[in-house]
Amino acid sequence: MLLTFPFLFFALAGWVNAATPGRDRASLNTGWRFARFTSNPDSLSYSTLKSWILPVANDFIVNGAKHQVPSGTAPGGNVAYVQGSFNDAGWQSVDLPHDWAIVGPFNAPGISGGMGRLPTNGVGWYRRNLSMTASDVDGSKSLFLDVDGAMSYAAVWLNGNLVGGWPFGYASWRLDLTRYLKAGDNTLAVRLDNELDNSRWYPGAGIYRNVWLVKVDKTHVAQYGTQITTPSVSSTSATVNVVVQVENLGNATRQVDVTTDIYPIDQASGAAGTAAVASIKSTTVSVTAGKKQAVNGSVTVTNPRLWGPAPGQTPNLYLAVTTLSATSAGGTKSVIDTYETRFGIRSITYDANKGLLVNGKHVYVQGTCNHHDQGAIGTAFNFRATQRQFQTLLEMGSNALRTSHNPPAPEFLDLADTMGLMVLDEAFDCWSQGKTSNDYSRLYADWHEPDMRAIIRRDRNHPSVIAWSIGNEIPEQGSSQGGSEGGELQDIARFEDPTRLCTTAMNSASENTALAGAIDIVGLNYQGEYGAYGAFHSKFPNKMIWGSETASCISSRGTYLFPVTSSNNAGYNTPGGADSSHMWLSAYELGNPGWGSSPDGVFVAQDRFPFVAGEFVWTGFDYIGEPTPYGGNGGARSSYFGIVDLAGFKKDRFYLYQARWRPDLPMAHILPHWTWPDRVGQTTPVHVFSAADEVELFVNGASAGRQKRPGASVYRFRWDSVKYSPGELRAVAYKNGAQWAVDSRKTAGNAAALRVTVDRASIAGDGRDLAYVSVAVVDAAGTVVPRAADTVTFAVSGPGKLVATDNGDPTDMTAFPSASRKAFSGLAMGIVRSDKGKTGQVTVTATAQGLTQGQVTITVN
Ligand code: GAL
Repeated sequence: MLLTFPFLFFALAGWVNAATPGRDRASLNTGWRFARFTSNPDSLSYSTLKSWILPVANDFIVNGAKHQVPSGTAPGGNVAYVQGSFNDAGWQSVDLPHDWAIVGPFNAPGISGGMGRLPTNGVGWYRRNLSMTASDVDGSKSLFLDVDGAMSYAAVWLNGNLVGGWPFGYASWRLDLTRYLKAGDNTLAVRLDNELDNSRWYPGAGIYRNVWLVKVDKTHVAQYGTQITTPSVSSTSATVNVVVQVENLGNATRQVDVTTDIYPIDQASGAAGTAAVASIKSTTVSVTAGKKQAVNGSVTVTNPRLWGPAPGQTPNLYLAVTTLSATSAGGTKSVIDTYETRFGIRSITYDANKGLLVNGKHVYVQGTCNHHDQGAIGTAFNFRATQRQFQTLLEMGSNALRTSHNPPAPEFLDLADTMGLMVLDEAFDCWSQGKTSNDYSRLYADWHEPDMRAIIRRDRNHPSVIAWSIGNEIPEQGSSQGGSEGGELQDIARFEDPTRLCTTAMNSASENTALAGAIDIVGLNYQGEYGAYGAFHSKFPNKMIWGSETASCISSRGTYLFPVTSSNNAGYNTPGGADSSHMWLSAYELGNPGWGSSPDGVFVAQDRFPFVAGEFVWTGFDYIGEPTPYGGNGGARSSYFGIVDLAGFKKDRFYLYQARWRPDLPMAHILPHWTWPDRVGQTTPVHVFSAADEVELFVNGASAGRQKRPGASVYRFRWDSVKYSPGELRAVAYKNGAQWAVDSRKTAGNAAALRVTVDRASIAGDGRDLAYVSVAVVDAAGTVVPRAADTVTFAVSGPGKLVATDNGDPTDMTAFPSASRKAFSGLAMGIVRSDKGKTGQVTVTATAQGLTQGQVTITVN
């Protein structure tokens, strides 16, 4: 922000941020001490703490009775870890975001394959000093602890006093620290508690998102205190409505002037402009002590630059700067709070026959579902890791994300806003009936209202959010209870955000169930592909329908198994689909676990039911946990569902989606690899993924036939009777009779060297930015040796550290921080993080026995 504010104010209030006078929001990510206990070290539990924690939800309860803080002594005050005098020097030093389980080792006792076999369980304590000046605690300010996410059952003590907490591990929440803070040193202690069997996937563990200390005047814009809507939008004019909640935590009524100025954000640089394009003129309100007061404003933005999903539209953003001013006892008026809200101007139409329209233009939803882990670095939120995932998805032609099955980190939505991805923001994986013994069903009764409201209030100003999902495959979806619970959650969503519709992902509810009748948008998991789209559309001719979850194709990158089924959609256990002795699933990308479909199978249904608004593929990326079908004892550690593997290497399937989703991109992609010394003379089918009209395949220079795109419901070109002989495969693709794209695969010789490349030549020296260093095992001619499994060792010098390695092999039980990693299908990945506050050259060297080493240099700025 390049706005200027009166100098006098800065002189009077040294603690504020220059950009946001009156408000200081400081990261609390550094300087923590941490210890994990596998058996309870403190005799505390959620049931003993619950009555003191529940009142924290009161701001998010509209319908029910508010919770009272119990009288009497709060629990935990006598626990050593909450005392300032406790010596935590023996505890681990950590910075947040932190995922205690990701370092492993695998096969943690009691943790299922479904949860990823990593040590998420136990009690974790975090401690940190908060140093306050006398003016911080002079009684004029409120000081809040904002936690973006902690897994799970968080409880917080300050100087031995239980302040509160929030049990749902995917929630963001705020505690008011003011009354317990004192000048000088303060001890903040956070207790987390993760039981076994609390998730169907890897939930991570710890304070895994950012944590902030917010200092504001006692009268300030409340938490999530702006709601911006754009009820009428055209290319020439848009109405922008802004509701500001002003909160007065002081002990006297306060008069404040509220204004909001709107600035354009430059799409390329992300910087806000200096001139407001619209301003909501000042309104004076009187806010009673201890109360909140809403201030409604409205303004027209002429010739608005609209937000729309890439690549067809541009994700333009605006910044609303809300200013509260008040007159001091001495009679001077000054700014007492400045609150910034990024938003977009756009319209959404949910059309039962056309699908989704953004700004009146049809956008087919080409989405992926993803869990929140970021592969080998785990659930500890990292901006670059998320940005890299989004870049990969955009390259594939994806335009939407489903945050399965819980709300994401706030910065995930910031990135989606900026990069132009649409988001289906999902709240829950279960309601009152659970799926695992210690999941959210245990919290549902007390917390579903506060959680649902908090999610929507936090996320509703993000233009990327196109709908709310109130739940995934809810066990009670088929009963009347599903209808009443779903109806209640949807009512909450409508109350908090009347501008968006809700969906729920139904895998077994028929069109005649109460939930299907209640829900705004019909979300079908898998059953659409089996024909259910038709039945739901006839029953609900006015409801939009989408494939809230599709495909569940499973494969191991680069691992092709034989024989190859002639079907374009097969069970993974069809001969040639799986090799259970190695826990491999074929990369011909045809197999699924029975409830799902190949990508091709999904496309068939979409073409058959053109009213369907689109799909969210299960999943964009492999994730830790749920290694279907190898989730049992001795099985694998991460999923096979991803279009991209856990290390971020593209599977062949990436190109099948790219051909469908970016049909104008000249592209042809051949599979399998062509290095099969054990298959000489044997049938080795060759498939090509391309949006071309025709493709000709050459095997060692001889044409194996030029094929026309075989028909409306076939999405791959297949030469199923090719016999293997070493040499080269070459595919030449044609559009409108002219050559359009070419691809080839060469037979590799023996492994000779490591080829090292990096995703970006320079990274920021902020202690968070990441470089992804890919290593390929290549032969003397530089061809990747496709089945190489050499052990690669990474060494890093300069201002960076190796944080994790991976290879995308779901069966690899080497702990993620290991510097040595076997290549899988010829590739391995090293993830390097910059050192904080340092610059220079980082050199990453990869070595493997008998191979010429490889090296890459990264500049740290
Ligand atoms: C779905 C479920 C997902 C995942 C997927 C695997 O039924 O919603 O969370 O389990 O199956 O195919």
